[in-house]
Amino acid sequence: MSELTGKHGLIVGVANKRSIAWAIAKAAADAGARLALTFQGERLEENVRELAADLDSPLVLPCDVTSDQQIADVMASVEREFGGLDFLVHGAAFAPREELTAPFIQTSREGFRVALDVSAYSLVALTRAAAPLMASRGGGSVLTLTYLGSERVFENYNVMGVAKAALEASVRYLAGELGPQNIRVNAISAGPIKTLAAAGIGGFSRILQVYRERAPLRRNTETAEVADAARFLLGTAGRGITGEILIVDGGYHIMGI
Ligand SMILES: NC(=O)c1ccc[n+]([C@@H]2O[C@H](COP(=O)([O-])OP(=O)(O)OC[C@H]3O[C@@H](n4cnc5c(N)ncnc54)[C@H](O)[C@@H]3O)[C@@H](O)[C@H]2O)c1
Repeated sequence: MSELTGKHGLIVGVANKRSIAWAIAKAAADAGARLALTFQGERLEENVRELAADLDSPLVLPCDVTSDQQIADVMASVEREFGGLDFLVHGAAFAPREELTAPFIQTSREGFRVALDVSAYSLVALTRAAAPLMASRGGGSVLTLTYLGSERVFENYNVMGVAKAALEASVRYLAGELGPQNIRVNAISAGPIKTLAAAGIGGFSRILQVYRERAPLRRNTETAEVADAARFLLGTAGRGITGEILIVDGGYHIMGI
């Protein structure tokens, strides 16, 4: 029996086959979990349905994380189909393109609001809606995805760094409150990976190159490496860990010069 056999998970943040959330979905499915995947808007529906066809009896549901109604509808469907929830993977992030190319000091009020709403507040909203479904199972595990730009300055990462700092603080506050219900909340801070979201960040290939040169493992992070760490945090092997930001970046973050 695999480590997630009999478990039900909800995966938010699959856009295409390169999405980190998709790699995590595959790893969780390989470990025996049954999954619900969400897609953001009709534009991505076909992609997500095609990918989901590889999974065993998946649920595929619309969810724009800025809509409390859509979040409530997703949880209602999950409760109806799965009778509860064991884990939630949150891989949604967005900032308007101009905020990731202009200097940070030019960040607009609206760009700041949108980035923080989609990339940080959505974890709070989704976790609040998922918590009763997890509590009914005796506990659960919530996992989000973050980046070192929350703590260090990376050119062009800008308001997304601020959003990731808010996201990581939210992980700790949620973990503190939900621990008594045996619900764990963690994040993986991944090294840079070429995905749709990353394509919006100016000079991303240069960041990849610097990581390859300076990370102790001398290579870029692969989605499968993030997915393996995710499987660990989602399953019983990670049962003693909550409020943690686990960095999966080939060791880049430890380096000085
Ligand atoms: N790629 C990297 O280098 C990297 C590194 C560290 C962390 N991350 C984080 O990993 C997560 C996944 O990103 P990715 O790199 O796999 O890119 P991706 O583009 O595949 O995933 C981002 C997802 O966010 C979703 N999203 C955006 N706005 C949304 C909304 N309003 N409602 C619902 N979903 C919405 C998109 O549909 C997409 O599925 C993000 O939080 C990202 O910041 C990425």
